[in-house]
Amino acid sequence: MMRLDKFLCETGFGTRSQVKTLLKKGLVWVNGEPAKGPEQKVREEEDQVICEGRQAVYMSFAYLMLHKPAGVVSATEDRKERTVLDLLDVPYKKKLFPVGRLDKDTEGLLLLTDDGELAHKLLSPKRHVDKTYYAEVSGEVTKEHIRQFREGLSIGEKRPTLPAVLQIRKSGSVSEVQVTIHEGKYHQIKRMFESIGCQVLYLKRLSMGSLMLDETLMPGEYRMLTKGEIQALKEETETKSVGQRTMERQRGALQRS
Ligand code: URA
Repeated sequence: MMRLDKFLCETGFGTRSQVKTLLKKGLVWVNGEPAKGPEQKVREEEDQVICEGRQAVYMSFAYLMLHKPAGVVSATEDRKERTVLDLLDVPYKKKLFPVGRLDKDTEGLLLLTDDGELAHKLLSPKRHVDKTYYAEVSGEVTKEHIRQFREGLSIGEKRPTLPAVLQIRKSGSVSEVQVTIHEGKYHQIKRMFESIGCQVLYLKRLSMGSLMLDETLMPGEYRMLTKGEIQALKEETETKSVGQRTMERQRGALQRS
């Protein structure tokens, strides 16, 4: 059970004072009856709460997709820099954290949640969840580089990188590429391109597992995940991830060739 004003805040209808105004204006209904007041108790999962004509849907965890702009750090707090949380205007933002990190100058998909279990599974090195990036890099990118990415690159770690899929959209003095990796080492994409003599000039994450950046979100904008998106992420982390399967297929192909 939870107070109605808190419930409305947590389901995205505004701050405490904003939802109190909505209540005063008679715009909130509980199970078909006008709401009694901010202190009325509601059962989060069972009661039907309608506010301004829209149903308030309670989710025990919050999941937000942010189109991270360049210039903010993927942290919950920082003494000097603006963080991704500073971009959010939701009452529950203090409990959210980013799932993994994008560099300060990297843009694109960043998932923010308070679901520690899902975050842990998505980041677990064992699960190899796919991450796809669009990059603009200095210098030509060739078929030989596609092979090198597939076979694994030496980026100064004990082991080479896992097989990655490099696709060339345009090759020239500045090349446009798409890369899918199945791990998440520090500055991994930049270091992979450095190892083939290219510098990453622009980097944007397009997807993480089944979750794809909503291209209608401008940099700095965010939205809640849909039920379908949450379900898909949970399902793929329950069982073997798509990345794990892709990697196993690639390994098999390499062994056969
Ligand atoms: N790889 C990088 O080099 N930077 C990022 O932000 C993400 C992946």
